[in-house]
Amino acid sequence: MLVLGIETSCDETAAAVVRDGREVLSHIVLSQVAAHRPYGGVVPEIASRAHVEAVAPVLNDALEKAGAHWDEVDQIAVTHGPGLASSLMIGVTAARALALRLNKPLTGVNHLAGHLYSVFLDPAIGEPESVCPMIVLLVTGGHTMLIRMDSVSEYQLLGQTLDDAVGEALDKGATLMGLGYPGGPEIEKAAVGGDPGRYPFPRGLRGGRGEVAGGLPRERCFSYSGLKTSLLYVLRDHPEHLTNGELPHLAASYQEAAFDALLDRLERVVREEGVKHFACVGGVAKNKRLRAKLEDLADRLDAELHVAPMTYCTDNAAMIAGVAGAHAMHGLPPTPVDDVHPNLPLY
Ligand code: KG4
Ligand code: ZN
Repeated sequence: MLVLGIETSCDETAAAVVRDGREVLSHIVLSQVAAHRPYGGVVPEIASRAHVEAVAPVLNDALEKAGAHWDEVDQIAVTHGPGLASSLMIGVTAARALALRLNKPLTGVNHLAGHLYSVFLDPAIGEPESVCPMIVLLVTGGHTMLIRMDSVSEYQLLGQTLDDAVGEALDKGATLMGLGYPGGPEIEKAAVGGDPGRYPFPRGLRGGRGEVAGGLPRERCFSYSGLKTSLLYVLRDHPEHLTNGELPHLAASYQEAAFDALLDRLERVVREEGVKHFACVGGVAKNKRLRAKLEDLADRLDAELHVAPMTYCTDNAAMIAGVAGAHAMHGLPPTPVDDVHPNLPLY
């Protein structure tokens, strides 16, 4: 079964062809990062215009690289949420036009379900049935979530951030430290040789139990707004730290605090849920320090860790085509694509 995936939820125009939900025949990502860099973040108006220009060539490229003909595509899958409305609209419009023209079924894919599925694009991982139930830590620029995955289509949200996402905290921290955009990889570079213990930045939502918004237990949730403020105060009191050799220590301590909070909740949830498999997906999962900490945790818990392949951590269409193919092969009907859903929940 060949699925053509289209992803335009934020600032990457992406298309991919995936066979049977597992074999990536082609995967094209056109990043707009250079266009947004001068503004230190994604500008929706610039993003949607860039998607309009890129979507047709990116689709053609994906088909050509896959060595597939349009007739051979069995299904078209498109991200219909969550994301920026004006960006989602371009992918959804292209997908609907294509489905109509080719007379192929179209399915709407939840961007978060795509990220969750990205671990299965690693040919080395077994079938979903052999690793589920699994706890997945989803860490992107817009979301920080702990999800229990019981199959490729059964998810349960166990915890999430109550304010900023971890990727957002890294992006904002990088801006405060005068580093480039996107901030996660810039902080990772700046932190090389730095002492992660030098600055005691807060680890968010310390102590206390009880329920928070949405009925989630406080001890499974995250908060990142205090971390950024704490860095702001250090730099207000010591602006010289940006130029006196302290920057590597600041960057290392900042990302360490961000990751310690993730690991603390993740460990608690894996223990409490009693599962033997856990995973990490999303753009922040590219970070080598985070990967090392996850590996330590896997050893400590005697559990198996699955991290999405590097290329499929950040936004891409292979994860969209992949999860759509897996759903179809499990007999799930296509999800109608009536509109874009900027705040689409996972289930
Ligand atoms: O998954 P993604 O591409 O897009 C969203 O769905 O949001 O994630 C983007 C986020 C950004 O916040 C970026 O700073 C972060 O992933 N990121 C990283 C690294 N590479 C990307 N964070 C830490 N270390 C990295 N190497
Ligand atoms: Zn994403």
